[in-house]
Amino acid sequence: MSGFDFNSRDSFGSRLGVIAAAAGSAVGLGNIWRFPYVLGENGGGAFLLVYLIIIFAIGIPVMMSELVIGRRAQRNPVGAFQLLAPKKPWFLVGLMGVVAAFMILAFYTAVAGWTLEYIYQTLIGGFKGKSSADLATMFDSFRSDSLRPALWFVIFMVATSGIVLGGVRKGIEKSTKIMMPMLFLIILVMCVKSLTLPGAGKGLTFLLQPDFSKITGNTILMALGQAFFSLSIGMGTLITYGSYIPKDNNLATTAVQVSMVDLMVAVLAGVAIFPAVFAFGISPSSGEALTFIVLPGIFQQMPGGMLFALMFFVLLAVAALTSTISVLEVIVAYFTEQLNLTRRKAVILATISMFILGISASLSWGLMSNVKIFGMNIFTLFNNTTANVLLPLGGLLIVVFLGWFFPSKNISDELSNGGTLKIRFYGIYRIVIRFIAPIAIALVFLNGLGLMKF
Ligand code: TRP
Repeated sequence: MSGFDFNSRDSFGSRLGVIAAAAGSAVGLGNIWRFPYVLGENGGGAFLLVYLIIIFAIGIPVMMSELVIGRRAQRNPVGAFQLLAPKKPWFLVGLMGVVAAFMILAFYTAVAGWTLEYIYQTLIGGFKGKSSADLATMFDSFRSDSLRPALWFVIFMVATSGIVLGGVRKGIEKSTKIMMPMLFLIILVMCVKSLTLPGAGKGLTFLLQPDFSKITGNTILMALGQAFFSLSIGMGTLITYGSYIPKDNNLATTAVQVSMVDLMVAVLAGVAIFPAVFAFGISPSSGEALTFIVLPGIFQQMPGGMLFALMFFVLLAVAALTSTISVLEVIVAYFTEQLNLTRRKAVILATISMFILGISASLSWGLMSNVKIFGMNIFTLFNNTTANVLLPLGGLLIVVFLGWFFPSKNISDELSNGGTLKIRFYGIYRIVIRFIAPIAIALVFLNGLGLMKF
């Protein structure tokens, strides 16, 4: 059998392309759909402050670690661990990442499909004249429809596969370089609109003024979980993207820039949403329903609201697409390099398997609502298993591997591009990946499993 030709591996073509692709992976439903409601439920400004600290203290070091592993090995997550730790079981961390990729893609693309339904509903005027109770019913009956969620899932999945089929440079890099600026533009326009609504100030105060009495152990754990999901860390997405980053790229700078873009979009999403929520007298802690029930209600009350509804759901869809391609690429890189398939065959195989998993996840409130595993429907099972178990466990093992089982010299060599860059932060970075990050992540992990409660 002739193996995969690693000399012919695709790569990113420019610094900007690296940032667009990696920030595209990070910025997603996690920033615009999840971050605002998690912040709303956890005390606003206090949560933001804790989140900020965690991004710097743990998020950035873990992101750097994934990039180091990927670029050092120039392999998919499984191949990377096989190469860096031969004949050791570390490749299982990579394999766990591939399994997590299948599960994340299934439920995440299902939600991405909902955004397409909501773009469609905006266009046909489906929210007009509906009360908030009507909008809640509308959301529930859409989710329990026997066909629609699956249909939108398939459409979104095919769009994802189409981009990944184009390859790293001509598919992923090229498309994210167009979609990321678009995303920025839309979110900025939405922020301006939200901030100019009468009574918007209260929303800003809620977002930016920390009430320290609101910080509990649980706030910290929620912030850590959110940071992992939002930065796309813990499952090899950034090992995979790191493996395509040119050798002269400054990985620490890239990790900082990507994390800052991700943080900024999350804050901007908050600025776009909370002033509007307060201006219309709605409780900020409306939970998961915020984007699909509360916001449509707000949009139809504001002048020109349908235009902003359209912009908002397009924003969600674009943000989701630059993330789904990064998750699919993990699976495709694994199939091409480990099973030696062509990219085309790998994409087809991954897409067909995703149809089975994703259609099941998207019909979790409809046809598949009777299927319960550990008391959860398929969507919730995939969502909880990845966010609470696989991502923290993956992140923990990644930093433990680099911190304790990989030569420090090789890490500093990779971060300094063979000694050509000054890396004054290396001492702190090493302490973080050896001690601080593993302990902090272990705490979230135990909490997620319900083995320890704060
Ligand atoms: N970070 C993305 C978001 O916030 C989602 C995502 C993409 C992700 N790739 C990932 C999450 C890998 C965890 C792991 O929407």
